[in-house]
Amino acid sequence: MTNLDDLPIRPDLVGQLPYGAPQIDVPIRLNVNENTFGIPEEVALRIVQRTAEAALTLNRYPDREFMELRQMLAEFLGGNLAAEQIWAANGSNEILQQFFQVFGGPEAKAMSFGPTYSMYANIARTTLTEYQLLPRLDDYSLSSEYVREEIQKAKPQIVILCSPNNPTGTGLALDVIEAAYNSFEGMLLVDEAYQEFSDSPSAISLLPGRPRLVISRTMSKAFAFAGARVGYMAADAAVVDAMRIVRLPYHLSALTQAAAMAALETSGQLLANIEQIKVQRDRIMVGVLKMGLSPLPSDANFVLIQGFQDTHVIFEGLLAKGIIVRDIGIPGCLRVTAGTEAETTKLLGELALLLD
Ligand SMILES: Cc1ncc(COP(=O)(O)O)c(C=O)c1O
Repeated sequence: MTNLDDLPIRPDLVGQLPYGAPQIDVPIRLNVNENTFGIPEEVALRIVQRTAEAALTLNRYPDREFMELRQMLAEFLGGNLAAEQIWAANGSNEILQQFFQVFGGPEAKAMSFGPTYSMYANIARTTLTEYQLLPRLDDYSLSSEYVREEIQKAKPQIVILCSPNNPTGTGLALDVIEAAYNSFEGMLLVDEAYQEFSDSPSAISLLPGRPRLVISRTMSKAFAFAGARVGYMAADAAVVDAMRIVRLPYHLSALTQAAAMAALETSGQLLANIEQIKVQRDRIMVGVLKMGLSPLPSDANFVLIQGFQDTHVIFEGLLAKGIIVRDIGIPGCLRVTAGTEAETTKLLGELALLLD
């Protein structure tokens, strides 16, 4: 058998590891910020109906411009968006990758403010784009002044702002996004993967008149659709045209398109648990605070809990009880997804026992 080291792979990839949160089959999985409520049967039936219709046409390539889906996404987002301003891909990770393929590359520098979603660095690397990660302020927030100053210093071609930010849960005020946009000439991508859980307004309202602004979204979180792999973005129609240059032909399969349209048709049911998830998120914050830990205020469906003496012991202790959470490599911190009421009860109960 050949070893990875024996292969003539690209020199800059030597020694790199694939991204991957552990996928461990335990009863309570709170490690990748999925929506842990299942798919309602009525939604599943609509998906089956839509994909069954699509199955009859699988001998043909799918509509590579997927205008029907783009129109439905535009309507879902509101804000007078046209289908031409919407793009979709296999998860918002693929949106990010296509975005870096178009606007990044060896001549470009991307920057973001960390700790933030680790795939930005990975995608920058695989698209040969320089990546600079600047620290967030002490409470993990960002101010207009700070963002403006750092962007003006760094002179990047790409800035990524994650709001609410993974892993801290911190939302961004629109004036910070406006300040970032006005501080450079390049492309600003606001990653709103968790926006549906936030009480702060979406940056979609900033799109008119800002052709260098891109808002990326996903169906993997609030929509409870992580397994279908559907991410999307809204931007100026010219940006969408640019994305079409790098996308592989027919990248969004007919089955994915059909499933996504079924999800949008039944979005009321799929999104029905958002308020319940927010209640559980706030319950986690209050619960762990009482245990002497320091949760960060969160606008998302997860909480970053600070103050553990030994994260490894807690992670393994919870795992032994059938609960997986996320160790994102910040000392003393674990990130937990807000799930159902029963999952939260079990999490808080086991955590209290472990801390005792
Ligand atoms: C901030 C953020 N952006 C993007 C993604 C990618 O999600 P997906 O590719 O499932 O749309 C994630 C997934 O965890 C995320 O946390």
